[in-house]
Amino acid sequence: EKAGHKHFMAKEIAEQPTVISEALAYYLANDGAGIILPDPGIDFSAFDRITMVACGTAFYACYTAKYWFEQVARIPVEIDVASEFRYREPPVSANTLAIFVSQSGETADTLAALRYMKGKAKTILSVVNVAESSIARESDMALPILAGVEVGVASTKAFSCQLTVLALLALEAACARGEMSADTLATRLSELRTLPGLLTRALDLDETLNAVSNELSEAKDVLFLGRGMMFPLALEGALKLKEISYIHAEGYASGELKHGPIALIDSHTPVIVFAPHDALFDKTVSNMQEVMARGGKVLLVSDKKGLEVAREGVWQTVQMPEVPDLFAPILYAIPAQLIAYHTAVAKGTDVDQPRNLAKSVTVE
Ligand code: M6R
Repeated sequence: EKAGHKHFMAKEIAEQPTVISEALAYYLANDGAGIILPDPGIDFSAFDRITMVACGTAFYACYTAKYWFEQVARIPVEIDVASEFRYREPPVSANTLAIFVSQSGETADTLAALRYMKGKAKTILSVVNVAESSIARESDMALPILAGVEVGVASTKAFSCQLTVLALLALEAACARGEMSADTLATRLSELRTLPGLLTRALDLDETLNAVSNELSEAKDVLFLGRGMMFPLALEGALKLKEISYIHAEGYASGELKHGPIALIDSHTPVIVFAPHDALFDKTVSNMQEVMARGGKVLLVSDKKGLEVAREGVWQTVQMPEVPDLFAPILYAIPAQLIAYHTAVAKGTDVDQPRNLAKSVTVE
């Protein structure tokens, strides 16, 4: 049942190229030039804002999608964790699209937040793995992420499939709102179709990440840094590491370092930096140099171009394949997951069933 893997988590990490191809095949037209949503579709030009609500890893998928929707579709997106949203009882403007993201579709807080939005938001959309779940049933439209059964408590393939579906929605929204031409859409979709191949190459870094993780397993605290779309991934990397290895970890927007967390830096605190060579690369590198100047041990996850200019003084480097900027979070999820996995294995924790946690949190 674990298909030769030691843990379900390892199997589920390895399945990502396959499940993402399947999700793309499901949502892309045969000619590859368009996105197909279930009837009656979603008219993104009818909304003036999007509110996205979820918990845990699903919330970080929403956080990433906020960058996508705002950047490519120019629509404002509010995000919140469901446990805060439901009791905050925020005012909801009539032309709101509410999106709820949940692997299980049964998370109590997310369901309560969805019920709060009924009759307030114009449309309630859910992005779920379990198609018959309560959250799916109570939505106006439910989009499956098609990750297949996820057994490990730590969400891995559900996260990357959530990101894939949300990326498609952002592209659909961009076209509907006149922010993207059909030609650009075709380019973006062909970029998306390269992802399974890139993910397979990233999975080849397993041995490198295993070696690094042996050392990480000695740490008491680990910081994860990223900018732009790599910021939510830093949060996700930290969550993944803490939930299965029990090592204290925090994710920060790298520009926030000097507003507090840089005080934590010493030679015992590894700092993991996600920095593809994109428009924000130089900014992230300058934050990384501030860390190194204070004796911090940096693990830099970047690509060939990035490492050529920024490897000096870095403790460990991980060279990722180059990836179109927009879709980097989906690819960089792989090292985030593998670092957590191997660190937990090195520590000997119960990787698939970490202490105190349940796969589906059906009580608040
Ligand atoms: O089933 P859901 O996606 O609604 O679950 C949300 C969170 O409980 C879940 O993502 C949790 O944070 C994971 N254990 C993270 O790996």
